[in-house]
Order: sequence, then C-alpha cells, then structure tokens
Amino acid sequence: MAHLLITGGAGFIGSHTALVLLQGGHSLVVLDNFSNSSPEALRRVAELAGLDHDSARLQVIAGDIRSPADLDRALGAAAPGGERVAGVIHFAGLKAVGESVQQPLRYWDVNVNGSRLLVEAMQRHGCRTLVFSSTSTVYGEPQRFPISETCATDPRHPYAQTKLAVEWMLQALETSETGWCIGRLRYFNPVGAHPSGRIGENPLGVPNNLFPFITQVASGQRPLLRIFGDDWPTPDGTGIRDYLHVMDLAEAHGLALDWLMQHQRSLPVLNLGTGRGLSVLEVVQAFETATGRTIPRELVGRRHGDVARLEGCPRLAASTLGWRASRNLEQMCRDGWTWQNANPRGYGG
Ligand code: NAD
Ligand code: WQD
Repeated sequence: MAHLLITGGAGFIGSHTALVLLQGGHSLVVLDNFSNSSPEALRRVAELAGLDHDSARLQVIAGDIRSPADLDRALGAAAPGGERVAGVIHFAGLKAVGESVQQPLRYWDVNVNGSRLLVEAMQRHGCRTLVFSSTSTVYGEPQRFPISETCATDPRHPYAQTKLAVEWMLQALETSETGWCIGRLRYFNPVGAHPSGRIGENPLGVPNNLFPFITQVASGQRPLLRIFGDDWPTPDGTGIRDYLHVMDLAEAHGLALDWLMQHQRSLPVLNLGTGRGLSVLEVVQAFETATGRTIPRELVGRRHGDVARLEGCPRLAASTLGWRASRNLEQMCRDGWTWQNANPRGYGG
C-alpha cells in the first residue's frame, strides 16, 4: 500500500479514482482548488470508503497546482504511519475545448505551467512516480480506426495542445534525469458514475458533453437534447465516440500506479477506451431503454470543431496493464441516471 497525492482529486475522474485507491488500501492527499468541483465530493468518497470522519487516510488540501507552497504542503503531508508521498496522479487542469479557444493563456498557465511546477516540486521532494491525464483529442481527426498510440498526433485546439505539450515535457524530463516512472494516459470519453449514485459528474452551468446533457434532459432540467449534425460520414450520420465507464477508468489508474511502482520505469503512452464507438443516436436509444425515460431531441447543425469519429484501440493497455473496460453502455446509462436522479443539482443540492 502506498501514500499518494491526487491533484484534482475532487473532480469527476479524480473522485472516482480516489475511491478506488482508498478501497485498495492506499492513503491519499488530495490537492484541489475546487474551481470545478466541490469538497462535498471528497466527503462522500470518504463515506463510500467507510472512513471515519477526520480519517488521516484522506487528507484534503485546498490549494493550487500553480502555487509551489501549496505543492510543498501536499507533497510534504505524511501518511498516518509517517510514509512520504510515493506517487502522484495528476488530474488537476482545465478541460473545456471551447473555453480553451477563448482563453488560451489560461489553459497554458494551468495545464502546462501547473504541470511544470508540480514536477519541480516532485523533484524537491524526491518523488518521481507520476500518472498524467492526457486526452484522445491529441489525435485530431484520424482516418484509421481504432486509433492506436502510434497514430500521428494533430492537436487542433489549445486544450489538446496543452495536454500534448505536457506529454512532451514529461518525456524530455525522463530522458534528462534517471529515476522517473511516468504514465501518460489518453482517455477517450469517460461517462457514468459510481453505482451508488453518491458521486458523479457535476458540470457547472450548461454541460458541453453529451452524457450530462442527456441526464439533465431526462430529469427535466433541460427541455431537449440538440443533436449536432446527422450528416457525418458515419452509419447513422451522427458523431461516434468511444464512451467508457468512469469506474473502469478509475481502476485503470490503480493498475497504472501499481505497474510503475513494480517495474520502476515509465509506461508507454496508453489509450484508455473500449475500442467500440457509439453514435449519438445509439447512446440516446440505449439511455431510453436503460432508464425508461424519453429524451426529446431536435436535430441542429454540426458543432464547430467536432470530428466524425473517435475510437481508441485498447490493445496496448490490455497487454501492458491487463486492463480492459468491463462495464457496458447500459451500466453507463443506468449509473449516470442514478447519480443525476439522486442529485439533480449536483453536489450543491
Ligand atoms: P474535472 O474538472 O471534474 O476535474 C479537474 C479537477 O481539477 C477539479 O476538481 C478542479 O477543481 C481541479 N483544478 C483545476 N484547476 C486546478 C488548479 N489550478 N489547482 C488545483 N486544482 C485544480 O475534470 P475531469 O473530467 O475529472 O478530468 C480530469 C483530468 O482528465 C483533466 O486533466 C482532464 O483534462 C483530463 N481528461 C478528461 C476527460 C473527460 O472527458 N472528462 C477526457 C480526457 C482527459
Ligand atoms: C460527443 C458527441 C457531439 C453534446 C469532449 C471534449 C474532449 C474530451 C472528451 C477531455 C459528439 C455530440 C454533444 C450535445 C450532441 N475531454 N453532442 N449534443 O466531442 O468527444 O469531446 O469530451 O479531454 O476534450 O471536448 O464529447 O460529449 O462533447 O460529444 O449531439 O449536446 O455528442 O457532437 O458527436 P467530445 P462530447
């Protein structure tokens, strides 16, 4: 069992990963500035993990990855048994594509500068094991599917550019200095929630993404789903994505950390997806079947910047980590709906 730092651990993927790691026996420090999350998520993670109130196995630090002092505080926070932080999972960052086009400098500051300051702080503290959240959007608009890790990258907006820049920075770091054990994980489309409905995705304002939009339509918070185009070069004309259950993604992080600690070297860049793409219409139909709710919808034009299809090859993650997404679309829909239904206003409710 290890003592780990999770940056951005109150967020959507971070909170589910924190739960998986606590249930696996690890102790955690979470550093989050709560700019896109709530401390309530971590209270519920502790409750689901069966921790006592004030348990030292989950230490929460409200702070910013761009603050060396906050990073020193987080990396210096020892485990209940006195162990030092042995590894970091770095989720903290900004992730909205459209916003990144409007505010590129902010994205470079938080995502790139924040990551640089984090690894510098890790150097100060002698911690060189790191898992980094990258994204399938670094591939741009590939023509061959499923997308393997050797596919050329073509990041088309500041969000993807900042993620690829950090991948490169980490690669240069491990070349320049021995001892680094780094995992760069390119996620496809994580959706759903913990089956308890206690933690889930908590988008602030109008959701950008398909899944939270559907669940908010199902709960009556939004009148209808707008489908962005039915003239894509796909079988039913709507966009195809590789959706994976957030609990599968969370489990992949536990396996990646175990691998790094056991092998004491870096992982190859890994795609984390299912290998099976689904269209917007397939997702809507599956959601209606799984939940019995009707999703009113209208067809509108394509969304600027969208691509027809993204579908990741999961083979390298399977052969390296022994990881495969095991939860199906029905579970993604059911668990996402359980969360939305029980928490119509997210953690603010
Ligand atoms: P999220 O916004 O729910 O979580 C990110 C967390 O980081 C939030 O809790 C936020 O408050 C925190 N944070 C932001 N800026 C910070 C800062 N400067 N200092 C400290 N904390 C800060 O997002 P998520 O969906 O959980 O994504 C986690 C990571 O995975 C992100 O880096 C994202 O780019 C990446 N990713 C997400 C997706 C996706 O579809 N959700 C896909 C691919 C990659
Ligand atoms: C999926 C499909 C839309 C909303 C986002 C981020 C990306 C990455 C993953 C972080 C597309 C269609 C959507 C709606 C719709 N995250 N759609 N109506 O486009 O893969 O990308 O998530 O790294 O950076 O941008 O996912 O959920 O937004 O869209 O018809 O109201 O649903 O056109 O075909 P996407 P998404």
